[in-house]
This record gives sequence, structure tokens and C-alpha cells, in this order.
Amino acid sequence: MIKIVEVGPRDGLQNEFSMVPTSAKIDFVNALSRTGVNEIEVSAFVSPKKIPQLQDAAIVFEKIHRVKGVVYSALVPNEKGLERAFQAGVDKVSLFTAASETFNQKNINTSIKGSLARFRPVVTQAGKRGRPIRAYISTAFWCAFEGKISAQKVVNLASSLMDMGIDELSISDTIGKATPDDVEQLMDSLLPIVPPDRIAVHYHDTYANGIANVLKSLSYGIRTVDASVGGLGGCPFAPGATGNVSTEDVIRALRNAGETLTANIDRLLQARELLNPYLPAPSLPETDPPDCSTCEFFNNGLCCGRHELTL
Ligand code: COA
Ligand code: ZN
Repeated sequence: MIKIVEVGPRDGLQNEFSMVPTSAKIDFVNALSRTGVNEIEVSAFVSPKKIPQLQDAAIVFEKIHRVKGVVYSALVPNEKGLERAFQAGVDKVSLFTAASETFNQKNINTSIKGSLARFRPVVTQAGKRGRPIRAYISTAFWCAFEGKISAQKVVNLASSLMDMGIDELSISDTIGKATPDDVEQLMDSLLPIVPPDRIAVHYHDTYANGIANVLKSLSYGIRTVDASVGGLGGCPFAPGATGNVSTEDVIRALRNAGETLTANIDRLLQARELLNPYLPAPSLPETDPPDCSTCEFFNNGLCCGRHELTL
């Protein structure tokens, strides 16, 4: 049995420049709840100045109809975020840091060490309330600013997070550049210190390696896969990052590989259609990606995240 974590409402919508109305997000999450996915990352309790797209996290949590058996999680960056998340009744808390110092500074305004210091009180509080904690290790393979990230950096960070009492690590290819060889290299180093049942994989599909990377990860005994319906997603602080590997593709590929999954593709696509009035319909790959500096969203050296990094 493979566990699917649907991250579209968070990873997908954080990167959309058009504001999706709160009511549409609620309908989207409600529809996803009936697709058979195991977990839904509903939103993020981060700074609304950093991610205005998700400033309505509390209302979304308040208004959704929770389906028994589905875990409703949210991104939390610090104690303030945790307090907001508790008030909203999240089932599971997702912390996030990165193996790249530069990306961390841009994304969460602190170093790797600083992020770990921020997490400690959050982990203690979440533990007291009996909530499981995931931690993302972003840029685990490549970083738009630092290039290739060494497996040792990821292993060191994973080790600190495990020592802290994190339940699950989501190993993230934030810019979607990893290949199955990169996955092999990292997993060979990581698996001796983190058991596969505590690892999730989170692949973006920029170079269409997402499915191959998921399959490679499964060969290591990893059973939890993050994906987003319709391949929604990206990070506004990671130039070049496009959407996550699509949930439909993951389900198809894994069923073909003989795995059991509970999610239903038709229902997932129906859920994605609810966003069509607000988001561009899923588009074909651009044949000639524009230069970031001419992108209409180019701002302070950051582009809309849909284009190749040409800086
Ligand atoms: N929720 C709401 N507001 C928050 C907050 C939270 N979890 N954490 C901080 N803030 C507010 C503070 O109250 C403060 O507001 P003020 O300027 O009105 O006084 C402001 O944000 C700055 O707070 P500070 O603690 O100094 O944080 P920071 O500026 O160092 O930013 C983060 C740190 C982590 C909160 C911020 O960088 C962030 O939210 N990043 C999220 C990035 C993200 O989600 N990326 C996509 C996922 S990969
Ligand atoms: Zn992501």
C-alpha cells in the first residue's frame, strides 16, 4: 500500500499569482477528501506577507468537511505558526527547512542552524498535543542558487531532525532537477540512518523525472509519496521550480508497477476542474521558455517560478 500526500492545496496554490477565492479552496479540499488520498496538505500558517496566497489558512481549515481517515496537515514555520495551526485544529504539522543555506535565507530568513533552533520549541509543543510532525528537507538534491547539494549535507540535516523527534522526513527536490541517479546516491547515504517508513519523497517535475524518481525511491522501500493533482505547484522562492509530480501520473505509474493505491483518478481530475475558473488550465510545456528578466512577475531577482533560471 502506498500513501499519497496530496499537496496541491498548499504547494500548488502558494505559487499561483491569481488569487483563488477562499470558497474555491474549501470546495477543492472537500473534493480531494473524497478522492481516496491519504493525507491532504491543506494550507500554510506562514507569514501572510511572504505567501499572501495562503493567508486564509484558518478559514479554510474551519470550513472544510473532514472525512474520517484522511489526515489534514499544514505547513508551519515557527511557534507563531504552530499556535495558529492548533487553533485551526490541524492533524499533523509540517515543518520545513532546506539543505541549501542560500535557499533557507530566501525562503525562511534564517540559516539551517537557525531553522533547527526555531523548530525545537515547536516540536516540544506539537509533541505535548500528540500531533505527528513532518519536516521537509527542501533542495535535497539541487538548489537554484547553490547547484548540486551533497548527500552528506542532507544526511547531517536529517540526522539532526531525527534526533529532535521528527516523525517523518519529506525529501524534496524543490526545483525538480534530480535524476534517478541522484536519488540513488542520496538514498544510499540516507537509508542507513533513517528507516524508509519515516521517509516521504517530494518531487517536482520540471525535467519530467518525477515518476522515474518516485519509482527509484520505492525500490528503497519508501511508501509515502507527495504529489499534486494536475501537477500544480512550485515555490515562489525557488526560481525555476515548476509543479509537483502529478497525483494522477503517480497513481497510474504505481498501479502499473503492481502497487495498491486507494485514490481515484477521475475524482482527482474533477477536484482539479473546480479550480479552472481561477487558474490557467493545465498547460502544455513551453517550447521556448522566456528569459526570467523579461517575465512579468520578475521582482527582486525572483521570477514567477515557471521559467528556467537564466540569471
Ligand atoms: N504566521 C503569521 N505571521 C507571522 C508568522 C506566522 N507563522 N511568523 C512570523 N509572522 C509575522 C510576524 O508577526 C512579523 O509581523 P510584523 O512585521 O507585522 O511584526 C513578521 O511576520 C516577521 O516575523 P519574524 O519572526 O521576524 O519572521 P521573518 O521575517 O524572519 O520570517 C518566516 C520568517 C519563516 C515566518 C517567513 O520567512 C515565512 O513565513 N516564510 C514562508 C515561506 C514559504 O512558505 N515558502 C514556501 C514553502 S517552501
Ligand atoms: Zn514542493
